Amino acid sequence: MTTNNPKAVIVIFGATGDLANRKLYPSIYRLYRNGKLSDNFAVIGVARRPWTNDVFRDKVKESIDNFDDPHIDKDEFASHFHYNPFDIQDLEHYQELETLIKELDGKHETEGNRLFYFSMAPNFFGTLAANLKSEGLTTTEGWTRLVIEKPFGHDYQSAKELNDQIREAFTEDQIYRIDHYLGKEMVQNIEVIRFANALFEPLWNNQYISNIQITSSEILGVEERGRYYDSAGSLKDMVQNHILQMLALIAMDPPIKLTPEEIRSEKVKVLRALRDLDEKEVDDYFVRGQYDKGNVNGEELPAYRKGNGVDPESNTDTFVAGKLMIDNFRWAGVPFYIRTGKRMKRKSTEIVVEFKDLPMNLYYDKEHETKSNLLVIHVQPHEGITLHVNAKKGDYNASSTPITLSYDNNSEDKMNTPEAYEILLHDCMRGDSTNFTHWDEVALSWKYVDVIANAWSQKKADFPNYTSGSNGPEEADLLLNKDGFEWWDVTPE
Ligand code: BG6
Repeated sequence: MTTNNPKAVIVIFGATGDLANRKLYPSIYRLYRNGKLSDNFAVIGVARRPWTNDVFRDKVKESIDNFDDPHIDKDEFASHFHYNPFDIQDLEHYQELETLIKELDGKHETEGNRLFYFSMAPNFFGTLAANLKSEGLTTTEGWTRLVIEKPFGHDYQSAKELNDQIREAFTEDQIYRIDHYLGKEMVQNIEVIRFANALFEPLWNNQYISNIQITSSEILGVEERGRYYDSAGSLKDMVQNHILQMLALIAMDPPIKLTPEEIRSEKVKVLRALRDLDEKEVDDYFVRGQYDKGNVNGEELPAYRKGNGVDPESNTDTFVAGKLMIDNFRWAGVPFYIRTGKRMKRKSTEIVVEFKDLPMNLYYDKEHETKSNLLVIHVQPHEGITLHVNAKKGDYNASSTPITLSYDNNSEDKMNTPEAYEILLHDCMRGDSTNFTHWDEVALSWKYVDVIANAWSQKKADFPNYTSGSNGPEEADLLLNKDGFEWWDVTPE
């Protein structure tokens, strides 16, 4: 059952951390400012540091500085925030937390609803979940939900262990696993574009589509996250979650209803239909890369191996490109190319659907530039869609030239699109799990990715193999060239 202005006590574990500061407090503020949160809410920040309510409230106010709205009384907003110093191992602290939750529940009339947000290292998740349950914090008159952040394990086995621990205390429908890409406006738009237009769906199959390309590139390197990243790499950091989620949305069949269960069931079918790779075949389908030093926007930047917390001999991938096949009736024979990397030429996430050429194109002429029809979904930083078609050139000949029809999401709304975290928090409080990843999806994604990671771990790569500020290693181009395709460069300037 969903309600629009949810009431709840939100308990954030890891309240002094970077994510809470950069994303969660601003998102709660924006929900409050936009009238999406009733006045009946309280936030309890939980962490080890011995902060007071005042210190915590000052931090929260600092974190929302950039979103200042003169119509909102910041002190009034911050008065909903309370701080609770906490030691995860100490059961007495759970009792104190329970008392505080009950007190705030009464004061803000939140009807016993509790949202626990684990914004901390996953090795604490199991203990925390178990203690919350044993100390009675998961039993309440209202609803109890748990939001958890990635990384959700580092392979299938560890993800399963983590899941089993959490499931001891929470049922699957109480667990909201965040994949922040699912909160992005244009990722949510994939389903609408596909299923609300008569134009695309009839063509959305192997008869009319030649290939699909999903690229998510970043300019930033691993910055201060070297220690985590060096044990993960781009395959686990980006492909296992964000890229496979976008692929599932692009490839799924229309759900029979727009319920979380029906949508998930279609996404799961796509992940189940991914063609399993044999470890020996991995090099034919996947390319890995690691950035070397290079010039990015006029600045000389060091190689990945020189980064803080990174092994100077590191074999970790900061780039991955792959060709995935979906063995079902709709997609048999259509390659899905994916690509993601750090320290690349530009920051952009885009999905390109390339349609097959006409069997006979009267206007095809090498001198002129008839191009394949493309549908491009611009996820970020530009948000919108572009349709690439061919039309008559404005001259005396009946020749054709490529033109584009564009829709710009930002200029249409004339307002900021909501932040991914803002949407996801709101969804969770309303009890809508559509844009969160179910365990079945996590499990299938890890199983697919594990084969590639295992094959790579057995063979040292010839790293570094791409220059910072480039489009990644040359092998990523060859992956498509050998099938007769190339990566489309469609980012609007
Ligand atoms: C995170 C990864 O999940 O996504 C980061 O851990 C990555 O390494 C980030 O930088 C990219 O997110 P966005 O929204 O900037 O594309």
